[in-house]
Amino acid sequence: MKTLYETFREVYGEGGEIRSFFSPGRVNLIGEHTDYNGGHVFPCSLSIGTYAVARKRKDNLIRFYSLNFKTQGVMTVDSTSLAYDAEHDWANYPKGVVSIFKESGYDVSGFDVLYFGNIPNGAGLSSSASIELATAVLLNELNHLHLEMVEMVKISQRAENEFVGVNCGIMDQFAIGMGKEKAAVLLDCNTLAYSYSPVVLEKASLVIANTNKRRGLADSKYNERRSECERALAKLQEHVSIQSLGDLTIESFEAHKHHITNPIDQKRAKHAVHENVRTIEAAKRLKAGEIEAFGQLMNESHVSLRDDYEVTGLELDALVEAAWSEEGVIGSRMTGAGFGGCTISIVEDQFLTSFQTNVAKTYKEKTGLTPEFYVVEIGAGAREINQLSEAL
Ligand code: GLA
Repeated sequence: MKTLYETFREVYGEGGEIRSFFSPGRVNLIGEHTDYNGGHVFPCSLSIGTYAVARKRKDNLIRFYSLNFKTQGVMTVDSTSLAYDAEHDWANYPKGVVSIFKESGYDVSGFDVLYFGNIPNGAGLSSSASIELATAVLLNELNHLHLEMVEMVKISQRAENEFVGVNCGIMDQFAIGMGKEKAAVLLDCNTLAYSYSPVVLEKASLVIANTNKRRGLADSKYNERRSECERALAKLQEHVSIQSLGDLTIESFEAHKHHITNPIDQKRAKHAVHENVRTIEAAKRLKAGEIEAFGQLMNESHVSLRDDYEVTGLELDALVEAAWSEEGVIGSRMTGAGFGGCTISIVEDQFLTSFQTNVAKTYKEKTGLTPEFYVVEIGAGAREINQLSEAL
């Protein structure tokens, strides 16, 4: 924090009230590709994330700088004329948030901001949603808007959908805004009803493994999957009265699936329905302390994402299969959008070292890539952290 404050002053000069904010990354325990299908997700916010140090300006200018992208230098924009600009690269995410705040009628002034993130970029841990919520919270605080977190979550999702042009669901922004320490949040993406479940793993830990195969949501097959599910839903709606695939039980899906005549679309819908049911079941198991059963559902989730949704690929499959064959692994699956990125595993603490050594070896043999491991803690959602800065 001290370095961030010093750098802020070096870049933008002395004076004024400088405030600081933190917004986590997220990992999804189970419930993948269910959010935009009106189903449930079960993510948690991480203790790693994005720091933002900011100061209000008296004019309409916004100056962005990131310690993660120093070569891009300071980018200056006028908050009264914000438009997507490929040259602004990462800064389009915070710009989008400002733009949607203004579009929603909130009066925001210019500001100077410095960001620093310790989430690996492009690894599927939502570095983009993290910077969006960091920006939303700082705008809320600097301009005394008193917005509810859920409102900022929705604005951030709109920024990504409408300004950046990535058609994501609400899971990432919700997990990051509403996350709670040591808990996962079970969210019904249809109604936004949610509840927290303490994540008590006894003598085991959550381990994220990065395939180190980069994935970009925008140019991935993400939108294609969304269209396939929309087509499947439209076919079903000709015969059943449902709003989304998340409304179906497995029995009702089985009874009506023949109406989805395209076999690919039918497989996609099957995943969405089963994954939703699995997620609700998994949250119950965790609550009951049945960690083994929870792990089993994680494994089934991966198989469904591999065979029916087809969003895994060589690297994610190799990493998960290597994990499955290790002693002390309770469950392992891909997490996030897929097509690269990370896996999440529950690993017994006494096997943490052998897990990392052996999985890295097998994975490298299969793919030529070196994975990275993070034994993660579940932290709280996006917030102002001035208490810390005041101590400096
Ligand atoms: C990405 C999207 C989310 C969600 C997941 C898949 O992370 O941003 O909205 O759809 O993929 O579960």
